[in-house]
Amino acid sequence: MIRALLLTTICLSLFISSFSQTTTIQNIQGRKILSLNGRWNFTIDPYENGYYDYRHKPFDESASGTGGFYDDKKSANKTDLIEYNFDLSPTLRVPADWNSQADKLEFYEGTVWYRQKFTLSRQQEKKYILYFGAVNYEAHVYLNGKKLGMHKGGFTPFQFDITDKIQNGENTVIVKADNSRKQDEIPTVNTDWWNYGGITRDVFVAELPASYISDYKVQLAKADTTRLNGYVQLSDAKKNEKVIVLIPEAGIHTTVITDDSGRAVINTGIKQLKLWSPQSPKLYKVSLIHEQDTLNDMIGFRTIEVKGQNILLNGKSIFLSGISLHDENPMIPGRLRSQGDMRMMLQWAKELNCNYVRLAHYPHNEEMIRLADEMGLLVWAEIPVYWTISWENAGTYNNAQQQLTDLVMRDKNRASVIIWSAGNETPVSEQRNIFMSKLVDHARALDNTRLVAAALEVHRQGEESFVNDPLGEKIDLASFNEYAGWYWGGTPSEITKYSFNIKYNKPVIISEFGGDALAGFHADENTRWSEEYQAALYKNQFILLNKVPGLRGMTPWILCDFRSPRRQQPYYQDYFNRKGLISETGKKKMAFDVLKTYYQKIQQQYGSFK
Ligand code: GCU
Repeated sequence: MIRALLLTTICLSLFISSFSQTTTIQNIQGRKILSLNGRWNFTIDPYENGYYDYRHKPFDESASGTGGFYDDKKSANKTDLIEYNFDLSPTLRVPADWNSQADKLEFYEGTVWYRQKFTLSRQQEKKYILYFGAVNYEAHVYLNGKKLGMHKGGFTPFQFDITDKIQNGENTVIVKADNSRKQDEIPTVNTDWWNYGGITRDVFVAELPASYISDYKVQLAKADTTRLNGYVQLSDAKKNEKVIVLIPEAGIHTTVITDDSGRAVINTGIKQLKLWSPQSPKLYKVSLIHEQDTLNDMIGFRTIEVKGQNILLNGKSIFLSGISLHDENPMIPGRLRSQGDMRMMLQWAKELNCNYVRLAHYPHNEEMIRLADEMGLLVWAEIPVYWTISWENAGTYNNAQQQLTDLVMRDKNRASVIIWSAGNETPVSEQRNIFMSKLVDHARALDNTRLVAAALEVHRQGEESFVNDPLGEKIDLASFNEYAGWYWGGTPSEITKYSFNIKYNKPVIISEFGGDALAGFHADENTRWSEEYQAALYKNQFILLNKVPGLRGMTPWILCDFRSPRRQQPYYQDYFNRKGLISETGKKKMAFDVLKTYYQKIQQQYGSFK
């Protein structure tokens, strides 16, 4: 009896610990961090032998907790019947997807084990956090042979408090990364992008004071350019703690006091402020000081709201001249790796005369959002609630809600982000309406200062496209994708006869339109896949869309050709979706200049917000 009880307790504690992780720290790069980026040893494990024993029982749950890839010291022991050895294994770059690093892994979907060793001189009075920018899709993390926990979601950060597990000297971290697609996950099994697996974003160990500033929001109050609103959260629930909020260039020096949960509200007037906008992306140095902990951030201040069919940035009506992007470098296969290639992508958007980007269809790298702040690009941010999700599954909803929470919590201080999108092209049904409405409510509850949207469903009857998706009642924009001239409607010159019947008196945002073109393939305007066809499609889309009263923006699909397992057509596609305005060799297609010119005219009409 006692043995059974003991075993149960161990399993229970293992189970609880394996799901526990603290919510992620705000502004990790503002901390004292040790980067674990670099080359990690790896082992491909398609049968998950490192996680399950031969009876398919997880090693994690065995009382001894030994066995498996994560027990790194075993791999060093040559005598055991262990068929892996990290010391002799090849390496993968981190951060980076595995698909673009090894031929065997280009299409691989399954488990890869990663191992990294690091040395640290452990300070007794400090706290330590192990932070991952993202691992696609499911990560199980072990430190020095002990399970820290697991995380689901391929594009959002997560962390573990390792204060009582980190050793002075050498430490070993092991990650089981599994990018297998599953129906009940977010996203589900079917998407139109490459399923890049692995540790695709930064990995840091943060060293923090015993009591530290774990989270904060410093933004303008909703639609009020004279008031700062937000909070500072300490790592522990200490009451009556003083936190100084300093924004010297804006004449702010105020002290806030924490309540019994360790949280202090910021609510103070602000006078001398240069508002952030695309044509003047002013960022202020903000310092938060609590005892020994000083944290600096660069934050822009602006307001965003909708009024009738207008979108008001700092109270002025704007047109969102945008373009959609995936998190993928067109020229070096794989996820965007660093500030260098992210800046390249956003610079191309600026060249297009954009003041806005849709970062589809999942949370992009935090670095990308910080660059948008710096370069003056407004952002539509999104979670991968994409197409045919398992609407009736409570676990699926909780996963979606957690990913939305992680996105909003990570980027809530970024002036560039003006829209939280709950999803894309989700088929209308009763269960989907409930699922999506709850997500929209959750986004608003987390952040009432930004707009909430989604790419709505459209249905066509004759020459009319109806936008009356019930989700449109809940969101701030009448935002939808339409592919007149590519997936329906005939040739480019034939699409101008169509019209849109939009039920909602809200700003209209075309979240996608476009067509494929193979860069360098030239023919007449009616020959699909030619650059001329794509350019004509854009020209006629503008005629079609200029008929839409309340049109206040668009993000044509898409800035660059991108990889997708759905696009196998030899010659024209070769596993690329060719709707990009730029090819995978960086060549600008004819439609690039068509869109650039259109936006130039729009900005003259709206006053340059570029
Ligand atoms: C859809 C979808 C995109 C996809 C595009 C296409 O609208 O939102 O993710 O890539 O169409 O078919 O090219």
